[in-house]
Amino acid sequence: MEIIIVPSAEDVGPAAAARIAAVVREDPGATIGLATGSSPQGVYADLAARAAAGEISFAAASGFALDEYVGIPAEHPESYVQVLATSVVGPLGFAPDRVHVPDGRATDLAAAARAYEDAIVAAGGIDLQILGVGTNGHIGFNEPTSSLSSRTRIKTLAERTRADNARFFATPEEVPTHCITQGLGTILDAGELLLVANGEAKAAAVAAAVEGPLTSFVPASVLQLHRRATVVVDEAAASRLALADYYRFTYDNKPQWQRW
Ligand code: GLP
Repeated sequence: MEIIIVPSAEDVGPAAAARIAAVVREDPGATIGLATGSSPQGVYADLAARAAAGEISFAAASGFALDEYVGIPAEHPESYVQVLATSVVGPLGFAPDRVHVPDGRATDLAAAARAYEDAIVAAGGIDLQILGVGTNGHIGFNEPTSSLSSRTRIKTLAERTRADNARFFATPEEVPTHCITQGLGTILDAGELLLVANGEAKAAAVAAAVEGPLTSFVPASVLQLHRRATVVVDEAAASRLALADYYRFTYDNKPQWQRW
């Protein structure tokens, strides 16, 4: 795992976007796994600026959302289909029909989850998966004790997650109780994982994911199983990493040929 510690929250987006830009430049038809939440917004803003400058194009790329709420309409501003349309599809210039989101409105949710898995396989798999991390260590909406080999499925949101996400809704009661999320096994199938986090509130989850034991109690610890996982964090989110100095030294002394 590579840990990149950047000075401030504003530096996380550009540092992570540099890697995604390199992937899309090399393969304009790349398939990108798209996370929602506030953490990757700086990544998307930086990629949108690069696309506007003509430096990269997502016109031939595909996208798969990590997850979607169950129980709110597609038109709801906080449905992930809307959030991705607003912050990713339009600004980055993805073809809308090549960006997929699990169908949280399906009458048969289990079938919708299976269909989503099939669509990822049919697209040739996800080349690079962008991830945030919940304060309880979740990735996607894989809450603590999620099976480490889980596939896309219905999950019940943890009380902590509902409280964390209440800031996006008018009242805490409005936060859905259920979702469809890519599983930890689904995420591990991606060619590359790129997790971004900032702020003191994420420091414990980041330390547990990177340096703690591999455990379903901290779903983000599955990054330890992946052969190509990168974590980009600001100083605040890195503040509980025991080996922070080692990660800084490693990055500062990275040979040129290993750089993005
Ligand atoms: C959300 C999403 C995750 C996200 C996490 C952290 O609920 N389902 O994909 O990574 O929780 O969110 P934020 O970046 O807003 O802190």
